[in-house]
Amino acid sequence: MNTRFLDACWGKPVDRTPVWLMRQAGRYLPEYMRVRSNCTFLDLCKSPELAAEVTIQPVDILGVDAAILFSDILTPVEPMGMRLDFVPGPVFENPVRTMADVERLRIPQMEEDVPYVLETIKILRRELAAKVPLIGFGGAPFTLACYMVEGKGSKEFAQIKRMMYAAPEVYGALMDKVTAMDMEYLNAQIGAGAQAIQIFDTWGGILAPCDYERYVLPYTTRLIGGLDRNDIPVIHFVKGAGAILDIVKKAGGDVMGLDWHVNLGKARDILGPGMAVQGNLDPTVLYAPKAIIEQEVKRILDENAGRPGHIFNLGHGILPTVPPENARFMVEAVHRLSQK
Ligand code: CP3
Repeated sequence: MNTRFLDACWGKPVDRTPVWLMRQAGRYLPEYMRVRSNCTFLDLCKSPELAAEVTIQPVDILGVDAAILFSDILTPVEPMGMRLDFVPGPVFENPVRTMADVERLRIPQMEEDVPYVLETIKILRRELAAKVPLIGFGGAPFTLACYMVEGKGSKEFAQIKRMMYAAPEVYGALMDKVTAMDMEYLNAQIGAGAQAIQIFDTWGGILAPCDYERYVLPYTTRLIGGLDRNDIPVIHFVKGAGAILDIVKKAGGDVMGLDWHVNLGKARDILGPGMAVQGNLDPTVLYAPKAIIEQEVKRILDENAGRPGHIFNLGHGILPTVPPENARFMVEAVHRLSQK
């Protein structure tokens, strides 16, 4: 078993910098499209054998040092009583707007309501045993609430912000419920065998620093504090949080996920030696010629300057039109240029 990824999460020395890519299983891979052509995205998430197959594809094709469960952050939100579709972005037919809407939401029984997620993890632990560790994941409560309240992706996030400012009791009740669900969901993943947990807060960067601290941080802190962590590292990725890393750090994760708007070295100076980092190549660099990809990989490794506790990754998910060969080259370049 390749333990580079887990070692780096704990700040231990490694022979080469470990690397994986956010959204590494997906539409840029013809092998994924072949599986996906026979079913919808949600069907794929709910079919453990197929979900396990596409989870392993990037491990074999790209040579990454970790696998991430194939699912979606919104998978456990559907059994809360929300009608979910992907077109391909997520859409909820019945967005949450009132206290009555919040009260109608139920907290799923994970073994009964999302058995396919736990089954996928069990299959993967068997099939990955001689390969790489398995990362489980969930959305941060705030990002889940954004989709639940907006009903879909958004540019302005007017609905969730309106709720936050104009109906704080509704917002608080929703966040309490989503946080409780999330804690049970991630603990169920750990119970099934996930070896690390990544919390995706894709929209955590849309707020003023004081509002992040007031309306987001308490819930993510509660979530992380409630995980059955033992020796399970928690990666906390908050997109757009470069200016508030000192605040985000307080949530208590072991590894900070960084997007490409920050200099990785400067971020490490702010976070201190006790916290590992993950990131942070601009995903569009994978459209560049190989010489440029290599130069950008080297720049990020240089910014890290040999400090322990760096997991190489993109600063956000890989884009569906990236040539797989460029992703494979990036992984190889990280390993080659960081070799001790
Ligand atoms: O990283 C992986 O390989 C694991 C799988 C994974 C998916 N979604 C599969 C997926 C993970 C970790 C996610 C997380 C996720 N989902 C996030 C957080 C990360 C981020 O990108 O910010 C968010 C915000 C979502 C919600 C979501 N699901 C969106 C916005 C979309 C549309 C994306 C797009 O590119 O069009 C999805 C659908 C989705 N989730 C797909 C995949 C492979 C595409 C579905 C398809 O095959 O048609």
